[in-house]
Amino acid sequence: MKEIDWANLSFGYMPTDYNVRIYNRNGKWGELEVSSSDTINLHMAATCLHYGQEAFEGLKAYRGKDGKVRLFRFEENAARLQRTCHGIMMAELPTDRFKEAVMKVVKLNERFIPPYESGASLYIRPLLIGTGAQVGVKPADEYLFMIFVTPVGPYFKGGFAATPYVITRKYDRAAPHGTGTYKVGGNYAASLRASKEAHDAGYSAEFYLDCKEHKFIDECGAANFFGIKDNTYITPLSSSILPSITNKSLMQLAEDMGMEVERRPVLEEELSTFEEAGACGTAAVISPIQRIDDPENNHSYVFSHDGKPGPISTKLYNKLRAIQYGDEPDTHGWVTIVE
Ligand code: PLP
Ligand code: COI
Repeated sequence: MKEIDWANLSFGYMPTDYNVRIYNRNGKWGELEVSSSDTINLHMAATCLHYGQEAFEGLKAYRGKDGKVRLFRFEENAARLQRTCHGIMMAELPTDRFKEAVMKVVKLNERFIPPYESGASLYIRPLLIGTGAQVGVKPADEYLFMIFVTPVGPYFKGGFAATPYVITRKYDRAAPHGTGTYKVGGNYAASLRASKEAHDAGYSAEFYLDCKEHKFIDECGAANFFGIKDNTYITPLSSSILPSITNKSLMQLAEDMGMEVERRPVLEEELSTFEEAGACGTAAVISPIQRIDDPENNHSYVFSHDGKPGPISTKLYNKLRAIQYGDEPDTHGWVTIVE
């Protein structure tokens, strides 16, 4: 195998040795299967291709200083996948089967788990699709759950550095009471044009406002938003954003640090009162926000004047990473060791 340059990995696909699959036929989940092919054979009338019966998840395996490999809150990913599948009428995979598959695929690809010193990790991508053929708009009668893994570096260039973001008013991502709280491919298709325009203009990602009134902050690209002011961690409550496991964890860590935590609608104007702001997610970890531009209103909300992450974001980032890599005690029972 060609040597992998662990310290300079991007967030991209690199083939690994194996993936795992579980088929759902006749309403039942079958045995876990191991494959070394990175393609699948699919009926051309499969519902995932026509009617968007597709859900995915994202989590990571981290190699610690002690050489042990840790998963972070995988039960939350299993539960969110079940919620997503319920939402778009797909077969739900029980948590113990999800765990079996994650453990197996990580162990089989152990040589692709980046070393501790690199600061990289193994990204785990579970997906579940409708494979049964339909022509009418109906749920499939067969499903396929699979997981591939790939070693990754930072999602946003520069890693833990403050970068600029831009509010998009031209595009919405998901409607209230639509599929925004589910991790379905369609939401990401809806974000591609906004994301491309933001990147082309030099921003890290696009920022969505609530699509009913365009008054409140929703989320940004593939990450949740948080702001810090007066020792308070503030994050939007919205019916069109993905409930982020990273954000949920940061709310707990902020509370542990003696901060107040508020999850509530956040008006765009309130951005001007925040001392720090960040994007958070499995891929993004914490990506500190330097500023958010609102070009249509000719306004900029600036959080970092020197381009550096703020002290509270830094503290939260260090704490979260320390738990994920096993450098600090796991007091909340968030970590599972892969054995
Ligand atoms: N929001 C969106 C739209 C995402 O795709 C993600 C990534 O999973 C997140 C937020 C962050 O969620 P999590 O912290 O569970 O990875
Ligand atoms: C994650 O943070 O795991 C995500 O799903 C982001 C992604 C869509 C690349």
